[in-house]
Amino acid sequence: MTKISARNIYKNYGAVEALRGVSLDVAEGEIHAVCGDNGAGKSTLIKILAGVEQPDQGELLVDGAARRFDSPTAALKAGLATIHQDLAVAPDMAIYQNIFMGAELTRSVLGLRLLDKARMRRESLGYMGQLNDSITDMNAKVNALSGGQRQAVAICRALRWNANVVILDEPTAALGVRETEQVLQLVRSLKRAGKTVILISHAMKDVAALADRVTILRTGENQITLDGGDLTADNLAHYILSGEVNRVH
Ligand SMILES: Nc1ncnc2c1ncn2[C@@H]1O[C@H](COP(=O)(O)OP(=O)(O)OP(=O)(O)O)[C@@H](O)[C@H]1O
Ligand SMILES: [Mg+2]
Repeated sequence: MTKISARNIYKNYGAVEALRGVSLDVAEGEIHAVCGDNGAGKSTLIKILAGVEQPDQGELLVDGAARRFDSPTAALKAGLATIHQDLAVAPDMAIYQNIFMGAELTRSVLGLRLLDKARMRRESLGYMGQLNDSITDMNAKVNALSGGQRQAVAICRALRWNANVVILDEPTAALGVRETEQVLQLVRSLKRAGKTVILISHAMKDVAALADRVTILRTGENQITLDGGDLTADNLAHYILSGEVNRVH
């Protein structure tokens, strides 16, 4: 089943035509990567899926129904959570506070609404356990975590919103080898949990190892979509560098 379908999307920034009729079809439960050279339009497309930007033209369908996201909250409520490259975690706050930021759980005591810290910690541990069972102290400050572990916290926030589509913009760009491996494991855990994943990455090796399909954009247009045996790191690099639109076998 097609989970997300973006059809014929156009987006201009003033005189810059960032997207010129781009389409993207993401099947339910797949890891779908979006690749392409700098300025190809990847982030613009993701911002439209995340409700950060609105398309000038074109259609967005979720589970086959036409949708328009006027805000990031609207996208979240429709089950699409985006983890932006800068992560936007609060380093001085605890893991559970980051996961529930902006939507804290409360309980009522003698008519007063108090934060339900115990429940937030418990539920945080549950989300974290789906991804990485080595992180057990939900009171730990995020600034004590590695880059890969911070990605896990950001992904838990998506799980907390019950997102069934998780969009990751360059999740390994700033990470070392071991942390990158941790993030690749996180993405695999999301797939195992039945989530649909959209991954933006310049790391061809990671994309080839993870993705079920890859859509390559070039100067605001679709170049080619690769899957199966065509989806190798060498092939990805070849297409992105050459701009070729036909499959070579
Ligand atoms: N807010 C903006 N204002 C003006 N131009 C923009 C804006 N955002 C993006 N652009 C332009 O739109 C085009 C597509 O940019 P986009 O960020 O989507 O590319 P990208 O594929 O994500 O590139 P990168 O790999 O460098 O992240 C580029 O030419 C870029 O300069
Ligand atoms: Mg980008």
